[in-house]
Amino acid sequence: MQEQIKKINSLEELQALYTATFGKNGTMTARLKQMATLDNDARVALNKENTTLRELFKNRQMELETAELNKRLASESIDVTLDAEPENNGSIHPLTHTLMEITSIFESLGFEIFTGPEIEDDWHNFTALNTPSYHPARDMQDTFFFENGNMMRTQTSAIQIRAMEAVGAPIKMVGVGPTYRKEMDATHGPTFRQVEGLYVDKNITMKDLLSTVHAFLEKFFERDIEMRIRPSYFPFTEPSIEIDIKWNNGKWLEIAGAGMVHPNVLKNCKINPDEYQGFAFGFGMDRLAMLKYNLPDLRDLYSGDIRWLKNTGF
Ligand code: PHE
Repeated sequence: MQEQIKKINSLEELQALYTATFGKNGTMTARLKQMATLDNDARVALNKENTTLRELFKNRQMELETAELNKRLASESIDVTLDAEPENNGSIHPLTHTLMEITSIFESLGFEIFTGPEIEDDWHNFTALNTPSYHPARDMQDTFFFENGNMMRTQTSAIQIRAMEAVGAPIKMVGVGPTYRKEMDATHGPTFRQVEGLYVDKNITMKDLLSTVHAFLEKFFERDIEMRIRPSYFPFTEPSIEIDIKWNNGKWLEIAGAGMVHPNVLKNCKINPDEYQGFAFGFGMDRLAMLKYNLPDLRDLYSGDIRWLKNTGF
């Protein structure tokens, strides 16, 4: 029996032999039941055999368990010196990168960042912006309408309205996000991003507008910027201007629309225009990204072509 135990190589076999020996109908169990019929020496011998056998079983069980554990550890081990699979790390999209730069500059100038819904109602996208339904300026932007009269917002100016409705005056905010217009040609896609600033407080003037935009541009392009303004028209600003900057090649580039917030817009947001004035400006964010990072084609920014994205160096 003792030899037999030592030779057993699996826990299952060991368990079977244990049961056959010590179980209810086991051989040792039967012999122990006869203990009373034995003489003294035989009893001592049987007790000893009983103890020895139990110990042998226990030891063999431990040996087998250890062996099994070692086997498992060996098969599950990993070789940390092996070369890793090359990883295809993600990176930040140029537009996201530009957005983060822009928002952090405006935050440093004391502006709070706002977003808003991309599907807008007529009030926020047009009417509150002094562009009622009969207004010819609605034709300036070719709008994607839904059947219920809602639309894909054509301008982040809608965020201005939502911010003024929520916060009132004074307010110093920047709204960012995608805008949509029915445009598709070599340089325009149907979606582009805008950055819109609004500052409403007492005694705000055109000078505040120009110095804010200029400070932003110099921080964003990290150099001195020459800027000029031209008269323009937007229904929600009066007076309205267009802002150009002089680019490296000596040419003037249009970079933003802006102006002093029209009194009707303030009234629509329950702000008293006799007490408060404000300025607003709107940049094309894609334009800013293209100029700063020298990206030739706006549509590449939205193509999702990973080979092109890798080459932008972000
Ligand atoms: N919303 C205007 C546009 O999309 C830009 C603008 C914003 C102009 C704010 C003036 C003030 O063309």
